[in-house]
Amino acid sequence: MATVAVQGLVKKFGSTLAVDDVTLEFPDGKLTVMVGPSGCGKTTLLRILAGLEEPTRGEVSVANRAVTLVPAWDRNVAMVFQSYALYPHMNVFKNIAFPLEARRVPKAEIKKRVEQTAAILEIDKLLQRYPRELSGGQMQRVAIGRAIVRKPQVFLMDEPLSNLDAQLRVTMRAQLKRLQMDLGVTTIYVTHDQAEAMTMADQIVVMNNGRVQQVSDPVAVYNCPQNMFVAGFIGSPPMNFVEGTLGQDKSRLECRGFEYEFPDAMAAGLARIGANQPLVMGIRPDDILVHDVPTGNAIEGTVYIFEVLGKETLLTVQCPNIQLKACVPTNRRVNLGDKVWLKPAPEGIRIFDAQTKQTLVNGARLSV
Ligand SMILES: Nc1ncnc2c1ncn2[C@@H]1O[C@H](COP(=O)(O)OP(=O)(O)OP(=O)(O)O)[C@@H](O)[C@H]1O
Ligand SMILES: [Mg+2]
Repeated sequence: MATVAVQGLVKKFGSTLAVDDVTLEFPDGKLTVMVGPSGCGKTTLLRILAGLEEPTRGEVSVANRAVTLVPAWDRNVAMVFQSYALYPHMNVFKNIAFPLEARRVPKAEIKKRVEQTAAILEIDKLLQRYPRELSGGQMQRVAIGRAIVRKPQVFLMDEPLSNLDAQLRVTMRAQLKRLQMDLGVTTIYVTHDQAEAMTMADQIVVMNNGRVQQVSDPVAVYNCPQNMFVAGFIGSPPMNFVEGTLGQDKSRLECRGFEYEFPDAMAAGLARIGANQPLVMGIRPDDILVHDVPTGNAIEGTVYIFEVLGKETLLTVQCPNIQLKACVPTNRRVNLGDKVWLKPAPEGIRIFDAQTKQTLVNGARLSV
């Protein structure tokens, strides 16, 4: 068992609060992805777990052992950095063997473990090569090999794929996910790429400004965001936000320049909100039906930009005082300036408190 836990963790650098009171559990054997924008404290948190940074306050434990004051080398965790940090004068074999040699593991055992590790990562044919003779993806696998050869209790990975080109990232993330499942080692993976987080994670931790915003599995993070930050950060293309106030009879969102009549299915959720309260309505582009004739419960606009994404085309629609994005199938003919009526799907509508930014009504839950 190697559940990793942190309790009341705080890290300050002078006046910068990098990690702000984080309490979290990283389940045993699972892959947890920490995701958030640049500067939100991901690397700092990971370095605290690795023992490379001392917290200002709070506790860290690995497999129920308090390790807050335990030095990095005695924690049985292995970290893979964004820069692979391979030794240029050592061949692949020596690079992978390095942590075992540092621990004076017998030579025969080192040979066996390096060869096993290289076979898992499919770099067994490259053992005699030097880092300068490898591609980015191969170097990345050597860096991972050096971490897994130690058989640590925990892997910590800080944006390990960020130096790779887009196509290789997609291949490597699937391979890493599979490797993690096969090894069953508790893994904490940091990225600012929400797609990487969604595809790889058993558990996602969304962070912003040093604080945890939400901890859930990927489906729940996508379907039931707890606040506007998570709703806007997870999902691509990002969610639209429409500001307004709840009408007196609680059936409409009154916005600048137009009104939106909420679907009946939302009445129960809206009943709990005070009339005239400032709200934000969130709706994902693929939860909007685009009509080319007037229809009820729709927002009128004209096509301002269209971008072909592949199977779908993303429209930017100029509505009164706001631009909204919506998806249509690419085989549908669209012209700039076309008049359209945007109809949000009831189950895709979320309502946020304009002040606290917390979710008040979650469309995905309407049918529950
Ligand atoms: N050694 C340091 N001294 C001073 N400030 C630091 C130090 N390390 C990090 N910070 C600050 O702490 C905050 C969090 O930094 P951190 O590196 O953890 O962010 P991150 O989420 O990993 O960002 P990125 O996605 O850009 O890697 C930032 O404001 C950063 O400037
Ligand atoms: Mg970082």
